[in-house]
Amino acid sequence: MSEKNSSSLEPREQWGTRLGFMLAAAGSAIGLGNIWRFPFVVGEGGGAAFVLIYLGFVLLIGLPLLIGEISIGRKGQANAMDSYKAIQPRTKWYLNGFIGILISFMILSFYSVVSGWAFYYFIQALTGQLIAPNRDYGSTFGGFITDPIMPIVFQVLLMTIVVIIVMGGVKKGIEKWNNILMPTLFLLLIVLVVRSLSLENAHIGLSFFLKPDFSVIDSTIILAALGQAFFSLSLASGLYVTYGSYINKKNSIPANAGGIVFLDLLVAIMAGLIIFPAVFHYGIDPGRGPDLVFVTFPTIFTDMPFGALFAVLFFFFIFVAALTSAISLLEVVVAFIKEKFHLSRKIAAPITGAIITVVGMFCALSFGSLSHVTLFDRTIFDILDFLTAEILLPFAGLILSIFLGWIWKPAGVREEVEKEGNSLPLYSIWSFLIRYVIPVVILIVFIDSLGII
Ligand code: PHE
Repeated sequence: MSEKNSSSLEPREQWGTRLGFMLAAAGSAIGLGNIWRFPFVVGEGGGAAFVLIYLGFVLLIGLPLLIGEISIGRKGQANAMDSYKAIQPRTKWYLNGFIGILISFMILSFYSVVSGWAFYYFIQALTGQLIAPNRDYGSTFGGFITDPIMPIVFQVLLMTIVVIIVMGGVKKGIEKWNNILMPTLFLLLIVLVVRSLSLENAHIGLSFFLKPDFSVIDSTIILAALGQAFFSLSLASGLYVTYGSYINKKNSIPANAGGIVFLDLLVAIMAGLIIFPAVFHYGIDPGRGPDLVFVTFPTIFTDMPFGALFAVLFFFFIFVAALTSAISLLEVVVAFIKEKFHLSRKIAAPITGAIITVVGMFCALSFGSLSHVTLFDRTIFDILDFLTAEILLPFAGLILSIFLGWIWKPAGVREEVEKEGNSLPLYSIWSFLIRYVIPVVILIVFIDSLGII
């Protein structure tokens, strides 16, 4: 279909195949959130107890909301904001869609920085400059991210690729890339899991990751687990409304949602199974923060047969996983801008991408020349990360659950889900979770972390 003019006269773009949506959505969900963010928040959160709470949030909050969020897009057939309007005209619920678009904008500004780091590490590995015996990977990484130029160069390069793919549209751009790249990531992760589990003392790392000690849990950790669940699933960011608006009514929404949650969890757990045995084996501090994977993985590769080759493959895949998520973040904003201002993709994508890149530069610099700019002890990067993952996404999720449970109502969602002979399994449990459990749990986590109870 023609992409030149995306006015409302054009038929809406659609995924080419049934698997197209699933792979693109999984490509969005699986990203730095699983491979970079998950290990370090688990490390900071003290290990297995965090993982268990996270798992609970993913299954009890994430999965039911995901079904609802996809349904909004498929019913509304528009961008993240206008889909709400199509379902509830003349109300203000569309503002939740708008919040999602804003969140995606904010996430991409710092996400593009970390994706740029992964890109840089891939190029370093490819040119044989990353892995060296006895190298102090902590200071290597520190030196790189505090540099005023290189992180920005790679952030800009990355955003250029993202913009070009989004300009290509849903079928030719987004879908084609995901189909090639996603499956290969799994194979590589499996090899690395096997390697890590065969390290000496792997069991110490394993029990850190899998044997819960609930005495370490406090309200900050619970909020962090909730935020990580939303972030990793790309939930409440407008993504599922946007991608959902390109699916065919024949597609089963619950089956897709289940698949996405499963794959996203699988990759996070695999990342944990690789990282933690290695962290304890090599004496790295699991709570060291955002540089955890950039230090641990090179250490693993230095000490592994064909390590230099694995380094190339691994950083290529982190880069790809980051890329498919960054594409999805930009798509949420671009779908909105192009429909609102009647622009073509080819115009909306570069303009939006450029603005986000500029905001992102401040995040990149917050590790070096702007590290003194802080609010409540947090740098620009930290503020955007905390605000989006731990405040705005769960907040938008709360409003989403109220919208689904009390405004559009479970019966309305069910009608959309059950089009073309599909079914919504466990409907009454799903509806109970959406109406009561999810809003109440999110509220309690929020109130708890404010220290009121
Ligand atoms: N889920 C993505 C990741 O884990 C990040 C993301 C969040 C993407 C929100 C889109 C929307 O890397």
